[in-house]
Amino acid sequence: MSQRGKFATGLGVIAATLGSAVGLGNIWKFPYVTGENGGAAFIIIYLGCVFFAGLPVMISEFVIGRKSNSNAVGSFKKLSPGSPWYLIGYAGIASAYLIMFFYTGVAGWVYSYFFRALRGDFAYATPALTDDIFTQTISTNLPPVIWQLIVLAVVGTIIIAGVEKGIERMTKALMPVLFVLLIICCARALTLPNAIEGVRFLIKPDFSKVTSATILTAMGLAFFKLSVGMGTMLTYGSYFGAQQDLPATAIKVALSDTVVSLLAGLAIFPTVFAFGFEPNSGPGLLFITIPMVFSKMPFGRILLAAFFLLTSIAATTALLSLMEVPVSFLVDEKGMPRWKATIIAMTSVFIVGLTATLSAHPDALLGKVSILGKTFFDLYDYVSQNLLMPLGGLFIVIYIGWFFGRDNLMVELTNRGNLDNHGLIRIFTIVVRYISPAVITLIFLNALGIIKA
Ligand code: TRP
Repeated sequence: MSQRGKFATGLGVIAATLGSAVGLGNIWKFPYVTGENGGAAFIIIYLGCVFFAGLPVMISEFVIGRKSNSNAVGSFKKLSPGSPWYLIGYAGIASAYLIMFFYTGVAGWVYSYFFRALRGDFAYATPALTDDIFTQTISTNLPPVIWQLIVLAVVGTIIIAGVEKGIERMTKALMPVLFVLLIICCARALTLPNAIEGVRFLIKPDFSKVTSATILTAMGLAFFKLSVGMGTMLTYGSYFGAQQDLPATAIKVALSDTVVSLLAGLAIFPTVFAFGFEPNSGPGLLFITIPMVFSKMPFGRILLAAFFLLTSIAATTALLSLMEVPVSFLVDEKGMPRWKATIIAMTSVFIVGLTATLSAHPDALLGKVSILGKTFFDLYDYVSQNLLMPLGGLFIVIYIGWFFGRDNLMVELTNRGNLDNHGLIRIFTIVVRYISPAVITLIFLNALGIIKA
């Protein structure tokens, strides 16, 4: 049996875990979803979802991972032998793959935009030109596939280097770079004329746009954002040391992740307003609106490159955590060496991921193929986010709340009596037993269209 990795330091734990949470979700999804749902009012609801659905699942995953010292499947087999709970682990591995299929493709577009920005492709950009560049990026067949391969090679190389020497070392180095670049972009955005309009949009709640559909959207986003519901945080938790304070770690990560999302909003909305664009321009915000507005300001070219560099970092560190789910499974359960497990995971993501990349635009090779009325790209996104993740999250909190055992939970949350987390544990128990299951069930039924919000 190969020896399992461990994160060496508390700082490394935070860097890696935050690196998983911070991703395309913060910079691509969060701003446009906020834009479409009325700004600050949506953010307030989102925060509620982070605390009542996302955070409890994250703490539960840490508990299962560290207690079992095993991967998504092995952990349940160890903790509840002979029961079907391990199926949660297989569902998690399936979601990790589905997310990687399309996420590596989008990360590839981001990498390519970094080089385009450096090269000055967006100088003198007009709406038609940026639109054109995006269409070209996603509709031609070879370049996006090559970028996807580059992303996988980068991620695979770091994964092969190991939990401590690869994931921990890289995230410790890259996360501060990401923060600095983000602060620079914010500083520039906030000093633009009219910036206040963008800020107002982010901090002044307008509850008239809030419907029950908004609440459910916020919940789904909170799950995706915090990387919970599919064994990512469970796998990382299995690399935590015995003295790591699990609830405190989860709270720090959830708060910092939210701060990153808000900073991304502060870098984007003032810029968008300053140049007279609409904030609710959908997923095109990152690839069309952003290049256009950045190109209009002083130092725009270098700022745009900085922006896409930080987005590339965010996407890469998130992918590390996704890739680690199947890799740790293959290492622990099948006794494979780490390099072999990684090559297998990379190759399978590349081969099936091609179907996502080649279906992102109607003119691409597989763009017109439809399965259950969806393209491959949308299908992977839909099945992972709307089916597997809510189900995974639901069963994880139910497992911790009702089956894991109160004493076991006490041991993990207090580090064998060394931490005084008693007040918190009482609240946590109520949340995982009743509140989170109710809340998650609601999202799930809505996503399936069984209840209409
Ligand atoms: N949280 C990441 C983001 O915001 C994406 C991500 C990484 C993820 N690992 C995950 C989402 C696991 C769900 C599950 O981009």
